[in-house]
Amino acid sequence: MNKVTIVGSGNWGSVAAKLIASNTIKLSNFHDEVRMWVFEETLPNGDKLTDVIKQTNENVKYLPGVKLGQNVVADPDLENAVKDANMLVFVTPHQFMEGICKRLDGKIRTDAEGISLVKGMEVKKEGASMISTLISNQLKINCSVLMGANIANEIAMQKFSEATIGYRENKEAAERWVQLFNTPYFNVTSVQDVEGVEMCGTLKNIVAIAAGFIDGLEMGNNTKSAIMRIGLKEMMAFSKLLFPSVKYSTFFESCGVADLITTCMGGRNRKVAAAYARNGGKRSFDELEAELLKGQKLQGVLTAKEVYEVLTARGWVERFPLFTTVYEISSGLLPPSAIVEFNNKSKL
Ligand SMILES: NC(=O)c1ccc[n+]([C@@H]2O[C@H](COP(=O)([O-])OP(=O)(O)OC[C@H]3O[C@@H](n4cnc5c(N)ncnc54)[C@H](O)[C@@H]3O)[C@@H](O)[C@H]2O)c1
Repeated sequence: MNKVTIVGSGNWGSVAAKLIASNTIKLSNFHDEVRMWVFEETLPNGDKLTDVIKQTNENVKYLPGVKLGQNVVADPDLENAVKDANMLVFVTPHQFMEGICKRLDGKIRTDAEGISLVKGMEVKKEGASMISTLISNQLKINCSVLMGANIANEIAMQKFSEATIGYRENKEAAERWVQLFNTPYFNVTSVQDVEGVEMCGTLKNIVAIAAGFIDGLEMGNNTKSAIMRIGLKEMMAFSKLLFPSVKYSTFFESCGVADLITTCMGGRNRKVAAAYARNGGKRSFDELEAELLKGQKLQGVLTAKEVYEVLTARGWVERFPLFTTVYEISSGLLPPSAIVEFNNKSKL
């Protein structure tokens, strides 16, 4: 019997809990109960978030109005939440993953398998590391990834969408993950390309920031499509340079072009970047994130900085004018209007 714990309970974490819990209750090879680790917060009325989730079966802060399923058990104690699970679903903003992995070292089952829904990367002096690699190395477990055109609130409403699981070698484990996530309205397929799937999910957030600048400056649909096309090319080129094993076909799965489109049309990165551009870069991303996202986290600005660090360390800056320009605008070095000026430099 497989036992599942979700490490994270934000907007996507809560939707993942709902999806998974609707399946574990039906599938005979899974325990019904799904534990969800909650980063404890005190709500404005003084209540603890975990207590409210337990009482209402809703994550009132990150997914209000949606029942998670009675078999979802909120748990604020990280070690307790993971101790019995052999299937660990990681879904927190990427900046918290290193600290979480440190806390989990030696605390999980030795036969556990992981899957990361986290979009982002870790950049250190020694080089760039994907979050699934961080999890694998730190916790000594196999880790797959799940990415796709998945704006969480739409999936919570059971609107049809697709997702891609990237796995390394263990096809059997990948099939178990597909079984766990797949529903009639959430169509999951798998490909043997962890890095390709994860790079797609990570890099599209940079392109979404660019798309948001275009929207904020009211530059129109043609310009936005151009940005998306150039962004996709840079995503492919950067992924291949960093991980030569990445397959081009992965970019045509849900995790690739479909996620790029949905993130550039809707999504939080686009929304906050549009507000940044409308304000002429005078209000900071941190301020706009707090005001517009209400506790949810923006990933694209941090990812642009992390990718820029890799570009400078490797001498690749000139090959990635869009990624570089997004970093320069979001860090205040250039005005938002510079978003189309890189075009002359593009060699893609
Ligand atoms: N929301 C979406 O539509 C969506 C879709 C696909 C993928 N993702 C990805 O899923 C991941 C998680 O995003 P989300 O939408 O579930 O989260 P979120 O941005 O909605 O919420 C932030 C979460 O971080 C937690 N948190 C705050 N401070 C923390 C700390 N110090 N340590 C640990 N946790 C802390 C909060 O309690 C909350 O659960 C991200 O990588 C995101 O890119 C999100």
